[in-house]
Amino acid sequence: MKRHPLGAFTILGVALLLAATSHAQTSDVAASAVLRADQPGPVVNKNIYGHFAEHLGRGIYEGIWVGPDSPIPNTRGIRSDVVAALKELDIPVLRWPGGCFADEYHWRDGIGPRDQRPSMINTHWGGVVEDNSFGTHEFMDLVEQLGTDAYITGNVGSGTPQEMMEWVEYMTSDAISPMANLRRQNGREEPWHVPYFGIANEPWGCGGSMRPEYYADEYRRYNTFVKNYDRSKPIYRIAAGASVDDYRWTEVLMGVAGRRMDGLSLHYYTLPTGQWRTKGSATDFGEDLWFSTLQRTLRMDELITKHSAIMDKAEAEAKPGPWPGADKKVGLVVDEWGTWYDSEPGSVPGFLYQQNTLRDALVAALNFHIFHRHADRVTMANIAQTVNVLQAMILTDEEKMLRTPTYWVFEMFKVHQDGTFLPVELESPDYVFGGEGIPMVSASATRAADGSATHLSLANTSPSQAVTLTVELAGLAPRVVSGRVLTAPAMDAHNTFDAPNAVQPAAFTGATVEGNTLEVKLPARSVVVLALS
Ligand code: AHR
Repeated sequence: MKRHPLGAFTILGVALLLAATSHAQTSDVAASAVLRADQPGPVVNKNIYGHFAEHLGRGIYEGIWVGPDSPIPNTRGIRSDVVAALKELDIPVLRWPGGCFADEYHWRDGIGPRDQRPSMINTHWGGVVEDNSFGTHEFMDLVEQLGTDAYITGNVGSGTPQEMMEWVEYMTSDAISPMANLRRQNGREEPWHVPYFGIANEPWGCGGSMRPEYYADEYRRYNTFVKNYDRSKPIYRIAAGASVDDYRWTEVLMGVAGRRMDGLSLHYYTLPTGQWRTKGSATDFGEDLWFSTLQRTLRMDELITKHSAIMDKAEAEAKPGPWPGADKKVGLVVDEWGTWYDSEPGSVPGFLYQQNTLRDALVAALNFHIFHRHADRVTMANIAQTVNVLQAMILTDEEKMLRTPTYWVFEMFKVHQDGTFLPVELESPDYVFGGEGIPMVSASATRAADGSATHLSLANTSPSQAVTLTVELAGLAPRVVSGRVLTAPAMDAHNTFDAPNAVQPAAFTGATVEGNTLEVKLPARSVVVLALS
């Protein structure tokens, strides 16, 4: 047995390594695990199941906003079918308005009578005209319809501290003050609750091409003007963090501004080829790109581990300052993650519209398991993006709507939200392709906040090999096991507007429990969530 760099014990042996490249096997291979219910860890922050919706392509316009006069059923302009589907996910937090769009967005253009709002060009995403009909009031209406929390990203790149300060006042102040009065004039008496505020997006790139030293100072300056108008609800401040493995960015940010932030972000996308020029198709791929996509996804673990270690070091070295919360731990906020493919043939390239297959379901499950493992540091994650953009939950075509395989993973995994992390010590064979291997089984467990059940989620990365997993339940003797499985006959299976339910969860009958032993027959290319009670 060798220990896989990602922390799981792995490899059954060279024989399997050679054999697994052919799909000749029919019998299951074996894996084992110990679920340590007797060694509970931190709470898995529900915000790890967060979302991101940017003014990009058909994400907001058509995907969410159709306007009150649309024949598509809507509530005050927000489409009802999409809201109903998203509500089933118990979305904890929604990030808006960008992305790159955030640093060219001027919030005052998006308030007041819609027919009088000025237009702008969305330079990043297709150069289309943005008419600002979806602005602050519409976004906060969406947040309220979804029953979620707002995470707003402010404009540092082309905005001013005054503009940011006034936006926060507009949204959150109850005073008789210029901005709060303007909000009232626009029809909203009560302030909104904005629990999370991002101070810039990708300032190293589309947000202003800044060096970390410069942005760290800018962060300190802008952050000063993000006021807590309601002191009983202090805003959680998120600084814009690194791209992928830019560890120096994290080092500088933590050193210069670490004690003035609650969260620091990280962006990492999975590209099947690893190349931005030709990323790979969403649906037209072979096993080579299935494998490389999952392998590249697992890199998230290394990135979080290394950025966290830098944060640990900075926190250990920092002298607590006089400001409130000076001793706290900074959360790592993975506020953009997911697959990024070549845009769908025939779609507008700048709109980042892509299909979503069973492969994306595996990508989502693997990422969630990584976030759970780092629950002591990762306080939030936001998949990019909710509707019609990148690894979306929902695709729409005018009045039609479908749920993607990724949607179903969010729906199945919502039981983990705010659960207590329970370590799973896994011994998994590798899934090997082209001489390289990744663990075939991925697993994560939590105990529900109300103690009613323990949930174990599993993924089998092999497109062709079933696994029999035997789990010792340490400190747990459930009487009942039930569950659901997401799989399909082919690795590129996906839902279309003609066949919207081709990939959807089904009842899972492959698990049995006896005493403290659980046995699971995990199908190839599958995601399973079990409830033990
Ligand atoms: O999610 C699409 C884009 O990816 C975002 O606008 C940007 O922050 C990132 O580069």
